Order: sequence, then structure tokens, then C-alpha cells
Amino acid sequence: MRLEALRQRHAKCFWPEAGDPIKRITRRLARGLLEVLGHRFAYRFIAMAAKELHTADEFFPERKTLPAFRRAAADCQACDLWRRGTQTVFGEGLAGARVLLIGEQPGNEEDLSGKPFVGPAGRLLDEALAEAGIERDQTYVTNVVKHFKWEPRGKRRIHKKPVTAEIAACRPWLEAEISLVKPKVIVCLGATAAQALLGPKFRVTKDRGRPLESTLAPFVLATVHPSSILRAPDDETRHREKRLFIEDLREAASLL
Ligand code: URA
Ligand code: SF4
Repeated sequence: MRLEALRQRHAKCFWPEAGDPIKRITRRLARGLLEVLGHRFAYRFIAMAAKELHTADEFFPERKTLPAFRRAAADCQACDLWRRGTQTVFGEGLAGARVLLIGEQPGNEEDLSGKPFVGPAGRLLDEALAEAGIERDQTYVTNVVKHFKWEPRGKRRIHKKPVTAEIAACRPWLEAEISLVKPKVIVCLGATAAQALLGPKFRVTKDRGRPLESTLAPFVLATVHPSSILRAPDDETRHREKRLFIEDLREAASLL
């Protein structure tokens, strides 16, 4: 019932935005250019030129504290995803955490509860963290994109990958979280987070579990997304993938 109501409320946003065709074409060109350039400064420049694209820093609060950012992010409309999601899912956890974990975007349960990693992927993450000797309540957990992007399929809401423009629009929230939490280790969960932080050429399959230097934190390390483990085709693969995931988290724990 709740989903039906949600679907009706959001039905309008599945179709291309109406409005001035010139603006629509500018917007499409700008997004195409961004896909090629793929850089946030390019995005800001294009955003200003196109006057139609926005970035989350336009919604920044006066006070530079995590609670103030969380409140401000609740009203963010920097990209179109706010129309589709139920609410902004800001990061959560210990303000001065030494480990900050980054996923892709909230899923169905996160969208409804307003908290990151509380669904099936979050339960797997909690277990793996505990096995690696990291307590979830000692960490700060967030996502690259703060709204759930989905498409209806029957009665279900199916996860859709965020595009470069949405990642760039949302990035200021993530940068604010990183600069306020000041973690010692950042763990990127999956390719979206890894590429957002380490560059589009980064390959999780090749460089997982290897701590890299970064201006964002003393160590940045990438591993797979817990959802990919849940999608494993059989038990054996799932167990193996989970073991490797725990090993990567142990590596993160060893850096603390
Ligand atoms: N997957 C994510 O990337 N983030 C969440 O918060 C939940 C699932
Ligand atoms: Fe703002 Fe990010 Fe939500 Fe887009 S996804 S509206 S940038 S909070």
C-alpha cells in the first residue's frame, strides 16, 4: 500500500522533464560533456554555464557541523533524485570515527527508514565488520549519492545506478562528511564509491584491499559492495566472496 502511494507520488519523475526545449537540449549537452570530462570542476563550470544544473553545496548550512549538514541535506534538490526518493539518507555513525565506509546509494529499506545500510546489504556489512574486529558503532557509514534511485517493476522498486551528473551533484555532501569526521581510513564499498574517490580508472577487481594514499584521508581502501556478495550465483561463491570481503576489512582494521 505504502509502495503504491509512493509510486503515484513519484510517477511524474520517470519521464523526461517537460519545459523549454532549448534548456532541455543545453542540459543534455552539458550532461554529455560531463560524461566525457567526468570531473567535478568541469561539472561546476558546466553547472554555472547551463544555469540548470546544481550542486549540493548550494544547500550548505552556515554552521559547519554534522548535525547542521544533515538537516540541510534533508532539503537538497541539487539533482532530480529528490523527487524519486522518500527522503535524503545522510550518513550516520560516530562523529569522530576512525573508519568511514562509503556505499553507492540508499536501497529500498534505507529510503524508507532514512538510515544508511540497514537492509540486507547492511546486515552483511555488520557481520563482516564484526568478524574483522571493527564495531559498526565505531564507524561512520554513508553513500556517494544520498537519494534512492529506482524504477518500478511490478510492485517492486528496482535499484538503478546513479549517473555521473548525479554523483557530481551530490559529492559536496560526501566531502563535507569526510572533512568533519576526519577518518584515518576510508573504505569504498564497490566500484561507484571507489571510482568517485579514486578516479574513473580504478578497478576494484584489480586493486581491492590495497591501502592507497589520498588527500581525503591517510588511507583509502576499496573492496566489493556487500550487495554483490548477496547476488553470488551459489553458496560456494558467496562464502568465498564473503571471506575475501572480511579479509579486506581486516586490512582496513590493521591500519587503525
Ligand atoms: N547499498 C548501498 O550502497 N548503500 C546503502 O545504504 C544500502 C545499500
Ligand atoms: Fe541532493 Fe544528492 Fe539527493 Fe541529488 S541525490 S537531491 S544531490 S542529496
